Amino acid sequence: MVEPLNIALAGLGTVGTGVVRLIETNAELIARRARRPIRIAAVSARDRTKDRGVDLSRYDWEDDPAALAARADVDVVVEMVGGSDGPALALARNAIGQGKGLVTANKAMIAHHGLELASAAEKAGVALKFEAAVAGGIPVIKGLSEGAAANAIERVYGILNGTCNYILSTMEDTGRDFGDVLAEAQRMGYAEADPTFDVEGIDAGHKLSILAAIAFGSRLRFDAVETTGISRVKAADIEQARSLGYVIRLLGMGEIDRAGGSARLFQRVHPHLVPIDHPLAHVDGATNAVVAEGNFMGRLLFQGAGAGDGPTASAVVADIIDIARGEKGAAFSMPAHELEAMEPAETGHRRGRSYIRFTVPDRPGVLADITAAMRDAGVSIASMIQKGEGAQSGEVILAIVTHEGPESAVTEALRILDGSDSLAARPLVMQIIEG
Ligand SMILES: NC(=O)c1ccc[n+]([C@@H]2O[C@H](COP(=O)([O-])OP(=O)(O)OC[C@H]3O[C@@H](n4cnc5c(N)ncnc54)[C@H](OP(=O)(O)O)[C@@H]3O)[C@@H](O)[C@H]2O)c1
Repeated sequence: MVEPLNIALAGLGTVGTGVVRLIETNAELIARRARRPIRIAAVSARDRTKDRGVDLSRYDWEDDPAALAARADVDVVVEMVGGSDGPALALARNAIGQGKGLVTANKAMIAHHGLELASAAEKAGVALKFEAAVAGGIPVIKGLSEGAAANAIERVYGILNGTCNYILSTMEDTGRDFGDVLAEAQRMGYAEADPTFDVEGIDAGHKLSILAAIAFGSRLRFDAVETTGISRVKAADIEQARSLGYVIRLLGMGEIDRAGGSARLFQRVHPHLVPIDHPLAHVDGATNAVVAEGNFMGRLLFQGAGAGDGPTASAVVADIIDIARGEKGAAFSMPAHELEAMEPAETGHRRGRSYIRFTVPDRPGVLADITAAMRDAGVSIASMIQKGEGAQSGEVILAIVTHEGPESAVTEALRILDGSDSLAARPLVMQIIEG
């Protein structure tokens, strides 16, 4: 008789109950693939009395998730509580310290404490796995750390937050403004009551920092992710972008920057203009997608559901199956001490084309002020669209697309214009990605 792998589940919300349902529904198939049964020994959440739509009566209940790590009948702790610190981190440290494997869906915790946990897991000789932490059901961590393991990866980027993608693609389909679509997404349960982490790009930044460490073999640096969310994107931007042949997507962009000799880490979450013939332009709704470019494999595209109970549980249970098979692996594809410490890249010398949206007073002379600032900063204008719609009365929206040039020149043009009475609001800059 093969011994089962005994697991304990902390957190029985969307992901935790999904994991219970999946392990119960596919028990036989999972046992054949894992070469041993997966047995839930104990579970924990805050409220024991809550109806979670799954029968938990056959599993031991622990009020304190930390107690799961101490149980002798548990091989692997599965953390699905959430939060970068607090009970999730205490449980993770505890579980590894007690020699248990750890599976987690918690991107915030991995982005902040992933290196510490990976080193501790290596020292303890246990597995640390977090496939569900990046892009939900998409096996992108496995894809990069196993399927693409032979490649030098120089660039990894994608749509990493389903809430933002849902909002942007709904704005695109309906012509409605950000606040209106966000409120609807909150009513429908697609966006949190406090949407800050999602719409300001922090959640995408967590995922990007994890992907970058795996793709580039660099030490994880969430603190060095430059983050701009989508809350300042207007319906007018989407319309201007469309008329120029682009859609707007919030992208997490990670690159190795070799300018100046040493490898530096470039990580940015920012709304971008994406050409309509680019694969990411067709990723709509709450879907996620990741592109990785390797020196032998070329471009790989991973696409699928980035959240939800089923897809996320699928990724969590895949990690559990790996552990049941005895595959520990290294959390970031190589041992933590092998990860290269890279300084953050300086962004000024990066070259590209930019979209700049100005909101300006509707009076003569304004255009001359803006183009003079562009000229003085060395920004070359490729096209310009002026529209009355989308602005308040007495104001117009002016969208400028630049020729390729250094980003620092655009920053300088905006510095020259800062405080000018030719601007009615702070401009918004978005980078344009090439096909
Ligand atoms: N939802 C998704 O689609 C998704 C996708 C990818 C990754 N993730 C990640 O998965 C994790 C869980 O997300 P979720 O959406 O399942 O969250 P959730 O629905 O809010 O569930 C959180 C669970 O943790 C329990 N909990 C919270 N604080 C606790 C504490 N102090 N002690 C013990 N238990 C506590 C809650 O207990 P009660 O139920 O008793 O309140 C609840 O069962 C997060 O790290 C999230 O980022 C989620």
